[in-house]
Amino acid sequence: MKLRSTLLAASITLTLAACGGADAPSEAPATPVAPAETAAPETAATEAEATPASETVASEAGECAFNLESNDAMQYSTKNIDVPASCAQFTINLKHTGSMPVAAMGHNVVIAKAADAAAVAADGAAVKPDHVKEGDARVIAKSNMIGGGESTSVTFEVAKIAEGGYNFFCTFPGHLAMMNGTLTVK
Ligand code: CO
Repeated sequence: MKLRSTLLAASITLTLAACGGADAPSEAPATPVAPAETAAPETAATEAEATPASETVASEAGECAFNLESNDAMQYSTKNIDVPASCAQFTINLKHTGSMPVAAMGHNVVIAKAADAAAVAADGAAVKPDHVKEGDARVIAKSNMIGGGESTSVTFEVAKIAEGGYNFFCTFPGHLAMMNGTLTVK
């Protein structure tokens, strides 16, 4: 009979809880309300600025985007970005976590064949402020050049890099050697 009454009490707890009059058994766990899946922020670039723990944002960028960081030490936060083949387009959000101005420690993200990276950067060396030659056909996509505290993004069609062999890199003069990574379509 005790079991029966316990089950009965548990079954009506939800109903009575609202009235505050339920003498529910203490061992009956409150049925957790399934956490509503909060809508994933789709504008990661702007959203990231208000998020202190920026490293955790990377995993929240979504399947077809990646949050890449750069700093005053001339570094990207990763050497490879996986690009799902299921994505029609892919976005790289770049954040400069440093404080140096764009003229001294500028960073961008340029997408091109790994084999073309050096020539793309060389041809853009004198082109301010973006350091990419106007109409460079080797460039699949490019972001703006940013300085410390700034963010930007670049979006490209995944089909354009599907054959493989593409890198992302910074074309600020002298940065290519340290600031480059692979794009792996999988
Ligand atoms: Co750079």
